[in-house]
Amino acid sequence: EGLLASGGALEGLHVVVTSGPTHEPIDPVRYIANRSSGRQGHAIAAAAARAGARVTVISGPVALPDPPGCETIRIESARDMLAAVEAALPADIFVAAAAVADWRAEPAVDKIKKGERGAPSLSLVENPDILASVSRGPNRPRLVVGFAAETRDIIRHAQEKLARKGCDLIVANDVSEGTGVFGGAMNQAHLVSRAGVEDWPRLRKEDVAERLVARLAQLIGGEMS
Ligand code: CTP
Ligand code: CA
Repeated sequence: EGLLASGGALEGLHVVVTSGPTHEPIDPVRYIANRSSGRQGHAIAAAAARAGARVTVISGPVALPDPPGCETIRIESARDMLAAVEAALPADIFVAAAAVADWRAEPAVDKIKKGERGAPSLSLVENPDILASVSRGPNRPRLVVGFAAETRDIIRHAQEKLARKGCDLIVANDVSEGTGVFGGAMNQAHLVSRAGVEDWPRLRKEDVAERLVARLAQLIGGEMS
């Protein structure tokens, strides 16, 4: 079983997936992070590998096992994630499922101490946009897929991101409090492309991954024939 698994829908293709959060150091012992578990990105990577692709996963710090059948590269910061993604290209498909920290601090060399000066203020600078940079870069994969984590006006924001970042598809989801998407097992996604919007039912993240991989196979197959 599995030994004759040739002819998978993504056979012969290289897929690069970012997954999980990034950690941006403040000092040697502290960092800025977010609630991403990496579950959705890891599930997409595993599904792409089952479909026969060679898969490279660039993962932030997560408490999950590496996705089966993939090469997993672990990084911490957004800048390290960008460098690892660039090193992994070229690829046929890029899926940016990571919750990349939007900002980083200039980390202090020594642990910041409590003291007379009171609470420190952090000055933040914007991180590079990995999705936009891959999508608009010289090594652009044929299919570039982003996510959009929103708490309001989900579709409008997703359409703006599609245009701004120049990707082919955006998987948009509602991460407002109570939906349990961030860190949870379920996801309710909307697939946004220039062709329109598809509302998917609330599904397990593994099933969202299966569906997405099937769509990617369809899209890239249509383009190749
Ligand atoms: N993304 C990325 N690099 C960043 C920020 C985001 O690659 N520095 C990718 C994410 O992996 C996701 C998509 O861009 O696929 C959208 O991320 P999101 O956080 O929803 O969008 P932002 O452009 O960061 O906008 P905002 O957080 O203000 O909504
Ligand atoms: Ca963001």
